[in-house]
Amino acid sequence: MKKGWKWLSLTLLVTIFAVFMAACSQTTGGGSGSVDVGIVLPTKDEPRWVQDEQRFKEALADSDYTTEILFSQGSSAKEKENVETLLNKGIKVLIICPHDGDAAAAAVEAAKKDGVTVISYDRLITNTDAVDYYVTFDSVAVGAAQGQYLVDNVSGSDVPLYLYAGAASDNNAFLFFEGAWNVLQPKIADGTFKVANSSEAEALKDKAMLSRDEMSKILGQVTTNWDPNEAINKAQTHLTAVGADLKGDVAVLAPNDGTARSIADVFASDGDVSSYIVTGQDAEKASIQYVIDGKQSMTVFKDVRTLVTDAMGMAVSILDGDTPETTGSYNNGSVDVNAKQTDVIVVNQENVQKELIDSGYYEASEFEGL
Ligand code: BGC
Repeated sequence: MKKGWKWLSLTLLVTIFAVFMAACSQTTGGGSGSVDVGIVLPTKDEPRWVQDEQRFKEALADSDYTTEILFSQGSSAKEKENVETLLNKGIKVLIICPHDGDAAAAAVEAAKKDGVTVISYDRLITNTDAVDYYVTFDSVAVGAAQGQYLVDNVSGSDVPLYLYAGAASDNNAFLFFEGAWNVLQPKIADGTFKVANSSEAEALKDKAMLSRDEMSKILGQVTTNWDPNEAINKAQTHLTAVGADLKGDVAVLAPNDGTARSIADVFASDGDVSSYIVTGQDAEKASIQYVIDGKQSMTVFKDVRTLVTDAMGMAVSILDGDTPETTGSYNNGSVDVNAKQTDVIVVNQENVQKELIDSGYYEASEFEGL
């Protein structure tokens, strides 16, 4: 009898323990709040997004809210999986920079179904109403700054102009190109530049405003897909295809730093190119060194600290039950998304010290020959 009781109480204990464990795993897995804010970034393969991760970590060091950062490694399927993982951890706010703006719609629609507030980060998620807010840099201004840099640094006429662009799956690629075209088009039309590598751009050279379809046609010829290797291949192909009249002193619109360094290396190694001006953006460390060394002409500095502060500020307002502050809106093809936008700064050899070192963004010791 005594033995029986002992056995029974043991069984009871085991059962209670099992029930307790099941309840616990439901708490973490079933959405009762182990992570408040989920952050999904596109890839670790580009320094730009590793920079964002680091700046998020710095900003989150003394946050009262719990956060988790996941990378999608250039895959929309992985991105969706990441969002599901975070939903299972009970997030209330999702900050997401999509790999592909259209494809990310499914992931954020799942988040909305769970009552999560969605903030599109840097890149806009397109053609869905499941986006609540957008934090971004002024991407049209980025492209305009690149175009203006080329205009300001060439002389004469018929200067060969090589155009490159980002991935068509990224809405920003269109905004950058639009900004650059606004500035470059009048100078192509008046004969300052001669487009060297896009028959589509050449055919549209008298059109000040391009439709998305028209831009798609140009991007179809000159996209890098944000891939430095694709940029190398394209630049090599283009330089092989042209005659001596399209070499000499040339201008190159490169959409970001990763592709700019690749393209710059290709142009530098062509004996018939006597000089090149090449743009960039992101102020990646490797490109800052290129700028110091005179291998990349400029970059557009997008202070990621501001973007992170804005995104987290929005998330905290939402968690606190307030309405985040916005400064305008972007149409994503389905709805107008309330947005907070940040300005950008053009950096070249002259102001690199002031903007990137004196501002505390990077350490002087990270570079040579400053
Ligand atoms: C970002 C750029 C980045 C590019 C490639 C764009 O959406 O705005 O900063 O260089 O994607 O990752």
